[in-house]
Amino acid sequence: MNALRRNWRPNRLRKTLPEVAVVFGASGGIGAALVANLAASGRYSQIHAGARRNLEELPPGVSAFRFELGDERSIAAAVAALSSPPTLVAIATGVLHDDGLALQPEKSARAIDPAAMEQVLAINTVGPALIAKHVLPHLPRERRAVFAALSAKVGSISDNRLGGWHSYRASKAALNMLIKTFAIELSRTHPLAVVAALHPGTVASALSAPFSRGMAPDALFAAERAAAQLMDVIEGLEPRDSGGLFSWDGSRLPY
Ligand SMILES: NC(=O)c1ccc[n+]([C@@H]2O[C@H](COP(=O)([O-])OP(=O)(O)OC[C@H]3O[C@@H](n4cnc5c(N)ncnc54)[C@H](OP(=O)(O)O)[C@@H]3O)[C@@H](O)[C@H]2O)c1
Repeated sequence: MNALRRNWRPNRLRKTLPEVAVVFGASGGIGAALVANLAASGRYSQIHAGARRNLEELPPGVSAFRFELGDERSIAAAVAALSSPPTLVAIATGVLHDDGLALQPEKSARAIDPAAMEQVLAINTVGPALIAKHVLPHLPRERRAVFAALSAKVGSISDNRLGGWHSYRASKAALNMLIKTFAIELSRTHPLAVVAALHPGTVASALSAPFSRGMAPDALFAAERAAAQLMDVIEGLEPRDSGGLFSWDGSRLPY
């Protein structure tokens, strides 16, 4: 069933208790648009926007925090500073290329560089795992909560028909496995929680810019549209969806 069309029936508690959202990666194209979408929705009593640098021009009512994926203490401190259990945690960090880190997606196995591959795995896989380590125990047990990490369709092993982008694909496939593993673990203590990996589609951002030239405009989502679509998917997720990889239109993608 298409999650966009599904009606998640809010429980009684969800109607009355405040919603608290935390976005890691709020300086990114999709992360900033998610924060703006959450703020405009008016549904959240608290919105925490995290980045590794100063965030300028946040929407009114949004509070900023600092973290660095490579610094576990900064993640632990960000979670410890939350005054209420989060009902939505969204991870919008990630890397595909970075000139400063000498990272470029590989075209062939010959291009694999161990240091570059380690960096991609550290940012795309280990970082989100550390956020999960610290935040999952703080999700509310008695009501619905969503932990969603931006993954990518190219991390689907069974969908891989083109090859290439070895490190990025591997880092997202590993992230998908972690999402499934966290979902199993969390279901034992938090039966209403949802842990999900999300594919945002191809979105105009710094990450996609070198690879999206020449794409048909209707195949490249503006970040604002991508955020709205991702929020629709998040709203439609139910506990039975936990552990899955979902595309921007709500469809479940294969691992
Ligand atoms: N754009 C697409 O077409 C597309 C498609 C499929 C999946 N995705 C996924 O969607 C997510 C967001 O992508 P995007 O397009 O919004 O990319 P983006 O604009 O490049 O944003 C990436 C974000 O990750 C942050 N980040 C990177 N390394 C970090 C670190 N060590 N510590 C803390 N933060 C760090 C960046 O912070 P700084 O601003 O400080 O650099 C930035 O906020 C990624 O996981 C990506 O793989 C994107």
